[in-house]
Amino acid sequence: MYDSKVNEKLTAYQYLLKDKLSGDKNRELIALLKDLKLAGRQVSKELNTGALAGSLGDYTGSKNSHGEKVKKLDLIANNLFIKSLENGGNCAGVVSEENEKIVIFNNENSKNSKYIVLIDPLDGSSNIDVNVPVGTIFSILKKPKSSKKLTSKDFLQEGKKQVAAGYIIYGSSTIYVLTVGKGVDAFTLDPYVNEFYVSQTNIQIPENARMYSVNQGNFFEFPLALQEYIRWCEQKDVKTGRPYSLRYVGSMVADLHRSLFKGGLFIYSQAKNAPEGKLRLMYECNPMAFIVEQAGGLASDGKKNILSIKPKSIHQKSPIFIGSSTMVKMVSKYLKSKLFS
Ligand code: AHG
Ligand code: MN
Ligand code: MN
Repeated sequence: MYDSKVNEKLTAYQYLLKDKLSGDKNRELIALLKDLKLAGRQVSKELNTGALAGSLGDYTGSKNSHGEKVKKLDLIANNLFIKSLENGGNCAGVVSEENEKIVIFNNENSKNSKYIVLIDPLDGSSNIDVNVPVGTIFSILKKPKSSKKLTSKDFLQEGKKQVAAGYIIYGSSTIYVLTVGKGVDAFTLDPYVNEFYVSQTNIQIPENARMYSVNQGNFFEFPLALQEYIRWCEQKDVKTGRPYSLRYVGSMVADLHRSLFKGGLFIYSQAKNAPEGKLRLMYECNPMAFIVEQAGGLASDGKKNILSIKPKSIHQKSPIFIGSSTMVKMVSKYLKSKLFS
């Protein structure tokens, strides 16, 4: 006897097919998401075996396009994602944090694909060697119709043009969080069958919260207005539940994953020693802003919405204030206030 109620668990693929991306026109996007998931599972395996597989530690070759130290796993993850995207043939090219220039795929399937991908293959890589959660962040855009031969200009689209965005957090479990512009869903990797299954649907970020997340070590480098806001978070006030708690992992993916479920504000500001902040607009800020907005939160660069920034270069940086809507509004009020300029 067949009972349709038994074993109702859907894989990410089945869920998208049935619900968020039903219909033939979405098949290529579903296939592209499958290519990303495959590489995500491979990275998860690399991280799980860690030192045993010899994949921890620094890469002794060159630095990346931002002059930052590269970890062995940064490169392993970059290769796994790019290879999977190339072999899948569902995307025309990639911007990656680990590649100064865009990567163009020349096989027939890829050339005819509608999509392009922007990716941070391994986020929070300074935490790899100490078993603290790291992640992958990605953004999917449509390849402009006018584009004959893909150039970096084709990638310079505002965040609000994103077709899909997601991250994979490699933590105590591996969780894949995705939006295709119809809310936010999460899928947890079952390591025994090596498959992502639906674990949370239509996630809503709490509107208000009592947690802020910032590298407090940079306090005296921050603009005065932000210093004042942080002081406000630290002050006692029964009505608003202050002082707020400070939580900072140092992996954007982990800090935002917590904020998505528990509420909170994540800050990476401009500072005297970093006038544009540190995080990259196209493959860190934009995808996270799309996810958080789809969950009912907000993302700002301090002045305007992250998703309406017109990008000028593929690796450009942006300050970011992102999370629960009430908290983003409050920090923005401080940042815009004439009192502290
Ligand atoms: P990446 O490992 O991709 O270079 O990103 C690291 C980022 C981000 O994950 C995190 O929020 C931030 O760097 C932490 O920076 P600080 O050490 O300056 O706080
Ligand atoms: Mn990163
Ligand atoms: Mn990275």
